[in-house]
Amino acid sequence: MQPQNRQPIVAGNWKMNGDPALIEQMSAALAQVELNNVKVVVCPPTVYLSMLNAKNFSKGAQNVSDKSGGAFTGETSTSMLKDVQVEYVIVGHSERREYYVEDNLLVAEKVATILDAGLTPIFCIGESEQIRDAGQLFEFLAEQLDAVLNRVGVKNFANLVVAYEPIWAIGTGKTATPEQAQEVHHFIRQHIASKDEKVAQELVILYGGSVNGANATSIFAQPDVDGGLVGGASLKPAEFIKICQAANELR
Ligand code: PGA
Repeated sequence: MQPQNRQPIVAGNWKMNGDPALIEQMSAALAQVELNNVKVVVCPPTVYLSMLNAKNFSKGAQNVSDKSGGAFTGETSTSMLKDVQVEYVIVGHSERREYYVEDNLLVAEKVATILDAGLTPIFCIGESEQIRDAGQLFEFLAEQLDAVLNRVGVKNFANLVVAYEPIWAIGTGKTATPEQAQEVHHFIRQHIASKDEKVAQELVILYGGSVNGANATSIFAQPDVDGGLVGGASLKPAEFIKICQAANELR
């Protein structure tokens, strides 16, 4: 029994890409479209956040420190992100977990820091191909979810967004099928529902991994998929808008 009243979100994760020209193009392109049923979030590299003219959409950061300030060279705090009108922060992305050795404990700490600041975490989870092939998919995802559940409590899942991003589908052009996405999104919702049914029904769960203008509609049409976290295709304004429009027509 899905109430289906969750507001879809499409977030663009630029990663370490883009430049001031793209910031301008994206701001201008999004200012021209009406997207009343979807929340659009653009997450450029940190240095460009203050240059985004986010008229029609929200700003998101790709990372944040778990510390509030002080001698932490190279880091950015939640209050600094708030100074440039950031509302969302991506956390637990597989690239941060893999290349910057962010483990479940640090991810949970960052989620807590983001929530404490009144910002919305886009909390990413996802398995490698080996884990899926070994039949450990659900066990692995439950562990990633539990680390954050244990740190911030289930009630706080009302204040965050979960993004399911199978690592084998990120930047590979190999998208999960709509059925594969639905299966995992349903599992995530059930896992949260075992602790709090209402929070689970209202939880926005995004799919990420090679989402583009051509496949967005079929993925977003799944009952437990509430939009997407988009990498490569979020660097092309027309393509990104197409994905936002697919989510806009979702519910
Ligand atoms: P992709 O990246 O859309 O390029 O696969 C998604 C992500 O990593 O968030």
